[in-house]
Amino acid sequence: MTDKLLLATILCLMGTSALAQQVILEGNYNVTAFCNSVATGTQLGSIVSCEYYYVCQSTGPVQVNCTAGYAYNYTVQACQPANQANCFYGLDNPCSATSGKSFAPLSGSCNKYYACENGTSVGIGSCPVNTKFDSVSRGCIWGSCSNTQALDDTPNLNSLCEVVPPNIFFGTTESCDTWNYCETGKANPTTSTCPTPTSCFNVQKQMCDYTGPTVCNRVTDQPLISTTTGACTSSSEPKGSSTICSQYYKCQNQQWQTYNCGYGQYWDKTTQQCQARQTATPEAGCNRCEYASKQFVNAVDSGNCTNYYYCNNGAATNLWCNSGMFFNEQKQGCVSDDTLSTYVLTNGACNGATATAGASTTESDSTGSTESTSEASTSEATTTEAATTKDDADAGGK
Ligand SMILES: *[C@@H]1O[C@H](CO)[C@@H](O)[C@H](O)[C@H]1NC(C)=O
Ligand SMILES: *[C@@H]1O[C@H](CO)[C@@H](O)[C@H](O)[C@H]1NC(C)=O
Ligand SMILES: *[C@@H]1O[C@H](CO)[C@@H](O)[C@H](O)[C@H]1NC(C)=O
Ligand SMILES: *[C@@H]1O[C@H](CO)[C@@H](O)[C@H](O)[C@H]1NC(C)=O
Ligand SMILES: *[C@@H]1O[C@H](CO)[C@@H](O)[C@H](O)[C@H]1NC(C)=O
Repeated sequence: MTDKLLLATILCLMGTSALAQQVILEGNYNVTAFCNSVATGTQLGSIVSCEYYYVCQSTGPVQVNCTAGYAYNYTVQACQPANQANCFYGLDNPCSATSGKSFAPLSGSCNKYYACENGTSVGIGSCPVNTKFDSVSRGCIWGSCSNTQALDDTPNLNSLCEVVPPNIFFGTTESCDTWNYCETGKANPTTSTCPTPTSCFNVQKQMCDYTGPTVCNRVTDQPLISTTTGACTSSSEPKGSSTICSQYYKCQNQQWQTYNCGYGQYWDKTTQQCQARQTATPEAGCNRCEYASKQFVNAVDSGNCTNYYYCNNGAATNLWCNSGMFFNEQKQGCVSDDTLSTYVLTNGACNGATATAGASTTESDSTGSTESTSEASTSEATTTEAATTKDDADAGGK
């Protein structure tokens, strides 16, 4: 009898917890999943309207309205007078929420924006290729827009940091060990994983914790931001983007889901996870100017580590070292192949690279090695270091 009652209670609890969660979706933003990944009581912004926000209760998100004339400011978790809140969603004139010269997101578009002056629009701009408009930093950041996002009118969350308040730790629904943290004004969160034995991120305590009965309940196979880019099969391995080093795709419910690594990280092909830019080996061809602090950076080159880029505002110009040399990002130049075997251990871009055959080969190899630049005129004028590098390389080769 007692057993039966207990069983009935357990079934009942299972039933209610499964039913109680009403799923709220705003385009690719799963508000319910996000609420499960933050501490109870946390507020999350809406990307449909500035006039309301969500309070995350243990049963899921609850919508709360601001009073008329006020707009929600997720960075301070409060409704503010509309012209102070810097919130654009659902406004007929997004520029009305700005002052002076500024930019505002264009609803339904991921890479276009309004140029605003004194509260009115003075034009519409587009972010360069491989970038998208970010309303946190009010600028173009690395990332791509799928065709559907660019064309239709569904709300689109580009980054977790666009709705969650800064300076709190939160989890994800994809894995229990991952935590995120947004800094004021930064578009992408810092992301990391909990170390064993406290390998479960406890969203209530906002810290890494031992496993427990409910600590990992939030984990589902649905991510917080769901952006799909076509069909796949369950056996498909995750893969990096061949243009954006920090972006990758995972197969989920027969669809490729797009993900972004955390701030300063690239997708690493060998471990199939995100890791620090310098050690990661991303897909060949992706632009390693992203998150770079130096002007010259290695291209992904697992052959001989001779290919490198000149970075100008994120745009990469292809350059090559001469035979017998490889590009050393820390030294900002081409150096002798003697140290290549140690360089490849800590610089993932050159993982697998071996020294070029014949250290001092013909003249024809070394001449014109920098001619394949696409932005000829600008790089000619500004690549003084590259020119030095080339001279050094010539000298070294002889
Ligand atoms: C949204 O999140 C909830 C809770 O994690 C999950 O049950 C649901 O499948 C998700 N829906 C979509 C469309 O991702
Ligand atoms: C919030 O406003 C909407 C209309 O915009 C209304 O339908 C809803 O009932 C309001 N919610 C609360 C809790 O007042
Ligand atoms: C929110 O309020 C802060 C402080 O008043 C302000 O600096 C910020 O621009 C506002 N808006 C957003 C979206 O952060
Ligand atoms: C915006 O305001 C400034 C200062 O009041 C003024 O100089 C400028 O011409 C205005 N711009 C437009 C487009 O009205
Ligand atoms: C480096 O390898 C590429 C092919 O992977 C080859 O085309 C190039 O000539 C090599 N560079 C040198 C300097 O040997």
